Amino acid sequence: MKESDNKKSPIGVFDSGYGGLTILDKIQEKLPGYDFIYLGDNARAPYGSRSFEIVYKFTLEAVKKLFDMGCNLVILACNTASAKALRSIQQNDLPLIAPSNRVLGVIRPTAEYVALKSKTRHVGLFGTQGTVQSNSYPLELKKLAPDLRVESLACPMWVPLIENGEAYGQGADYFVKKYVDILLEKDDDIDSIILGCTHYPILKSKIESCLPKSIEVISQGELVAESLADYLNRHPEIDRRISKNGETHFYTTESADKFSDLASLFLNRNVDVEHLDIE
Ligand code: DGL
Repeated sequence: MKESDNKKSPIGVFDSGYGGLTILDKIQEKLPGYDFIYLGDNARAPYGSRSFEIVYKFTLEAVKKLFDMGCNLVILACNTASAKALRSIQQNDLPLIAPSNRVLGVIRPTAEYVALKSKTRHVGLFGTQGTVQSNSYPLELKKLAPDLRVESLACPMWVPLIENGEAYGQGADYFVKKYVDILLEKDDDIDSIILGCTHYPILKSKIESCLPKSIEVISQGELVAESLADYLNRHPEIDRRISKNGETHFYTTESADKFSDLASLFLNRNVDVEHLDIE
């Protein structure tokens, strides 16, 4: 395992597939001069319905790959990986494989925002099966705001619809309304709904159109970007090790052509992508 102590290197951004692009987009807006490597494990996506052991294994492989590519700092731009693998990687793997490298997730910055923001103190969460079953959001929110009531709902159809380019079709209309109705039936006092999967911002306007205007639908990109900028301010020793030429390289474990077609939907621009094996 390479630990590039002195060399400056890009920030690694990892997701099971396309969803992390919604995070990368906002991080790039916030930190335009920084370099990034985006890695989507599209060949093995979705992660959402996979077991704890498998998500941990795949995520650790991806993190090691990004370290080997020179990254000193990796963002898990994936809630499922953050929920199931982040803690183990931070506590058990990093000290052994790369003690001066850092891996950060997306759950904490989102929980911090919603803990302050909700007025009714009733919060909803849409996520993958893995994120919901892990209970990571309710646990994180409980630490920050014990008075919050959280209703979580897994939306197993949303990621496959998005990964297959169907986010704007009628199938998506049907499955968005279906899950929104179920969540509101569980608790109609919710005033904030966390989109606890980095793919879901693609469905945000559809989700909002099924909800009363008084409910805030929270996507994570800006929150994660804000929190990363703050982290780098507080940790100049990490910031110093990041290269800053304003360049981003994209990698996918699937076919590069397939990735670039859908990636443009997420980023509103075309990107050059390379295929990469991480196993
Ligand atoms: N984008 C991911 C998340 O934030 C995972 C989606 C999936 O692969 O199921 O949870």
